Amino acid sequence: AAAEKGGFPSFMEKEINEQPAAVEQTLMGRTDPEGNLVLDELKIDEAVLRSVDKIVVVACGTAAYAGQVARYAIEHWCRIPTEVELAHEFRYRDPIVNERTLVVALSQSGETMDTLMAVRHAQEQGAKVVAICNTNGSTIPREADAALYTHAGPEIAVASTKAFLAQITAAYLLGLYLAQLRGNKYKDEIGQILTELEAMPAKIQQVIDAQAGVKELAQSMKDAASVLFLGRHVGFPVALEGALKLKEIAYIHAEGFAAGELKHGPIALIEEGQPVFVIVPSPRGRDSLHAKVVSNIQEIRARGAVTIVIAEEGDEAVADYANHVFRVPQSPVLLQPLLTTVPLQIFACELATAKGYDVDQPRNLAKSVTVE
Ligand code: G6P
Repeated sequence: AAAEKGGFPSFMEKEINEQPAAVEQTLMGRTDPEGNLVLDELKIDEAVLRSVDKIVVVACGTAAYAGQVARYAIEHWCRIPTEVELAHEFRYRDPIVNERTLVVALSQSGETMDTLMAVRHAQEQGAKVVAICNTNGSTIPREADAALYTHAGPEIAVASTKAFLAQITAAYLLGLYLAQLRGNKYKDEIGQILTELEAMPAKIQQVIDAQAGVKELAQSMKDAASVLFLGRHVGFPVALEGALKLKEIAYIHAEGFAAGELKHGPIALIEEGQPVFVIVPSPRGRDSLHAKVVSNIQEIRARGAVTIVIAEEGDEAVADYANHVFRVPQSPVLLQPLLTTVPLQIFACELATAKGYDVDQPRNLAKSVTVE
């Protein structure tokens, strides 16, 4: 078993460390000699893809957070209204789905029953379904109209890590492909964005290489009763995923919030010693989100929170209000989740290990939930 884990103490730790390769493999072989994005697997008529007027992403758990991240990129690049819905909620609200809807089913296993039922429901309404999946030949990609595979390799640990990064990557490729196909204003930037995506594995590796500080903090926090996570824009689903990891494997109460929502409720939770992770958007972003999140850090710190800040290298504005700062390399805003998620995964894995739990087999959870 030790050999299977490649020398790591757990599959989860091994899989966290495999993330640069997971992203790299998912990107591999997707361009032609002219630099155009080719998604050979996407066997849906181009005319149909051009006529799409709405995208609905359906998924559960971590995959649903990957969908939430992807929505920001897909809407931005394609200008197609995009919704993300938990698969088990989607079907029961009589959703507006028709021949012009593209449903994207995100699933690591390809066997999640809730997601499969959402796929069937969408197809009954005439929608085309693209599955983004990590498991060759599993049920969801088989039933979908087309399948785009993530090449993260088998994921064994129940809590998803490398599949999450690969799902974001694949969903981004789909978004770029649709933008290319529809010839919109981002068409000329696609090559540049692909180059930036190709630079991500090395940057993910840098985050992994700098994990010692995160692990040390995790060990010191093993008695924490509750941990909060704040993020905005693509950092919001990252906050949700950071909280989910902690619930899943460390059994700690954890919640993620949109940082802008803080003043509308969650700030009431802040008291002396409350640990709060804050995912800080790039200071090079187009609008003033960075300044707003920095002021959130200031507000919670003034109320006694222990602030644990994930920020870009060179972002000095956060330093004054942060009890702990973990750095990620600079990247375009939309690609930041591929970096900012990693310290949160490492944190949860280390904290759960410090508590003596089996991180690969958390209580009450299954890797793939094949019942509704
Ligand atoms: C289970 C797992 C989660 C996973 C979710 C969706 O609940 O414990 O880690 O995110 O299913 O799985 P899928 O295979 O559809 O991505």
